[in-house]
Amino acid sequence: MKRIDELKELIKKYDLQYYELGTSEISDAEYDRLYEEYAALEKEFPEYAEMADSPTKRVGAGSAAGTTTGLPKITHKSPLLSIDRKAKELSELEDFYNKCGGDGTEVIVQPKLDGITCNINYENGKLINAATRGNGYIGDLITENFKNTDTKYPEEVENFDLEVRGEAIIPFDFFKKKLQDDYSNPRNAVAGIMRQIEPKDVKGKGIQVMFYDIGQTNLEISDKDSDNVNILKSFDFQIVPVICASTWEELKVVVESRLNGYIQQIEGFNVLMDSTKEFPQAVCDGLVIKVNSRKKREEIGFSQKGPKWAFAYKFKPLQEKTIINRVVWQVGKTGRITPVAEFNEISLGGTKINRATLNNFDYMKQMGLEYNDTIVVERSNDVIPRVVEVASHNEIKEANEEDQASFQLPCACPVCGGKIKELYPLHYCENPFCSAQIKGKIVHYASRDAMNIVGLGEGIVDTLFENELLKDIPSIYQLLEKREELEALPKFAKKKVDNLFKSIEKTKSPELWQFIYSLSIPEIGKKASKDLAQRYLTIEHFLEATYEELIDIEFFGGIMAQNVMDYLENEDFIQMIKTLFAYGVHPQQVEVNSDELKGKTFVITGTLANPRKFYQDIIEKMGGKCAGSVSKKTTAVLIGSDAGSKETKARELVAKGEPIVLLESEEAIQEYFGVSY
Ligand code: IVH
Repeated sequence: MKRIDELKELIKKYDLQYYELGTSEISDAEYDRLYEEYAALEKEFPEYAEMADSPTKRVGAGSAAGTTTGLPKITHKSPLLSIDRKAKELSELEDFYNKCGGDGTEVIVQPKLDGITCNINYENGKLINAATRGNGYIGDLITENFKNTDTKYPEEVENFDLEVRGEAIIPFDFFKKKLQDDYSNPRNAVAGIMRQIEPKDVKGKGIQVMFYDIGQTNLEISDKDSDNVNILKSFDFQIVPVICASTWEELKVVVESRLNGYIQQIEGFNVLMDSTKEFPQAVCDGLVIKVNSRKKREEIGFSQKGPKWAFAYKFKPLQEKTIINRVVWQVGKTGRITPVAEFNEISLGGTKINRATLNNFDYMKQMGLEYNDTIVVERSNDVIPRVVEVASHNEIKEANEEDQASFQLPCACPVCGGKIKELYPLHYCENPFCSAQIKGKIVHYASRDAMNIVGLGEGIVDTLFENELLKDIPSIYQLLEKREELEALPKFAKKKVDNLFKSIEKTKSPELWQFIYSLSIPEIGKKASKDLAQRYLTIEHFLEATYEELIDIEFFGGIMAQNVMDYLENEDFIQMIKTLFAYGVHPQQVEVNSDELKGKTFVITGTLANPRKFYQDIIEKMGGKCAGSVSKKTTAVLIGSDAGSKETKARELVAKGEPIVLLESEEAIQEYFGVSY
């Protein structure tokens, strides 16, 4: 039962990562194994199946789907189903086909695209909205994001109402060229990018939605789904390839040939390759097989978890066995310590590898991993190979003691010797000045979505670190005085230094969220940084944040709040910010521009928590005006302590029945203006 609870927790965590955050610490195959282990235990202890939080009850991320993204929600007109029937073996597929009627029953085979599912909704011919799948019923509204993708879709569909479904993907060739350094696979990239709050961040990222299904519509549609996909094509939607089969022999050929050769394996990825260029290079994780006739589908019907007429055939991941020699403990930019297996070289999907991630210490323990074991290494639609299983323990002839010891969790940080803390199941180096962390933090500070210092990538940071030209984030600004030393380095021509300096200069007045994001506070990504900037408006206010305020922010949990507090209460961190200020870096105040207060006049009197200019800025940015004296025309008065005649005048006018609002506390002010600081 302890294992059931453990598995539940893990599945919940990975669901959240997968469906909400667009990332995953484990491969799909590992997820499936956890899920299957759980499902088997649940059969043994059926009382667990009754529980509301049972993973087998949920579709996607369940009722929590979409709740962490901060995007507005929308209920789909008709639900987006998912496929519960999955298989990796042909025999299971044959079984499915026979249950649907067997030979003579027409099915369609399509690539199962590995991206995120979207629903585009047209009413009266016009595109009204676009949303993610979410939990199948309610999704995130992403209309503007969708419009900024590179999708081929019509602006109008005559005068029809039409829901179209498809998968947003990033073609493999584009991913390789542009995104491989930032994401470990195209799915993570598309999931992260499609849920950006700023639609402009979606532009130029190569995203395309490929359509495969029609939801609710008043269009006259055919009984055959294959025809309906062609209707979408005739309206100029980018569609997926569709191949029909009417007997098991035909279906088997299509599946064994991986969609008649359309899907090929490249560097561990399953990619849709089409010489006619009709289809982009979408990454697929299998095939979808659906009964073609809609009438027949109705006859076959649904089980509790989904349609009985649709089946997913999942590709087997590339796997290879090898012998593990040692574990290397890597320290990342947040101090996270990750075990990496080093093994006898193998070839997986055309690339030679001798290292693969072991995720975390607990994962090693669960596998029962020991020195010299035969392990199974897997790669499946991901840049990162993973160790997934111990195949056998082997007799040890000559043990290398150091290598043998590397299978234990180190007692100190392998890079700096600092203390290690556990945040189950992860381990972190506690020393924020650990060089591994600092290098990583500098690289993050300079990265595109943070301060965007072009020419300060990982390799260069390493070089500058070794040459003692960089030692922490503020030392980036000291580079500006070290032209000579820089130009003396190999590969640092004058032009390169010029560009680097220009780029560094440009970072001196970042947006507040950008600055917060650049600081590599654990768990504080772009979205959280934006929330913090909206909440505090200025860096000075942010530096004075309290735990209570932080957990009050929507979507902020205790861990995030504590991580921020750990930094704000760390003297070295505060010192670093001050040093950055001294180098001329100062984040801009957040603009709350609107015309909400147009035509309204405010008077500020007495001593308030912030300087008068602070309130004046808020009022003016919302289109209001500030006046020096109180009159019948005054909309509201902000009253601080020790206010004098202006307060008296305001109270007199209120007593006479003038509708002047008196804002007598910071809370009242914040509530009135709808800001928080
Ligand atoms: S059909 C009942 N066709 O894979 C059938 N789904 O669980 C409904 N997917 O998230 C879906 N490619 O969005 C269908 N060619 C394809 C697909 C596809 C990818 C996604 C789907 C869903 C999951 C199936």
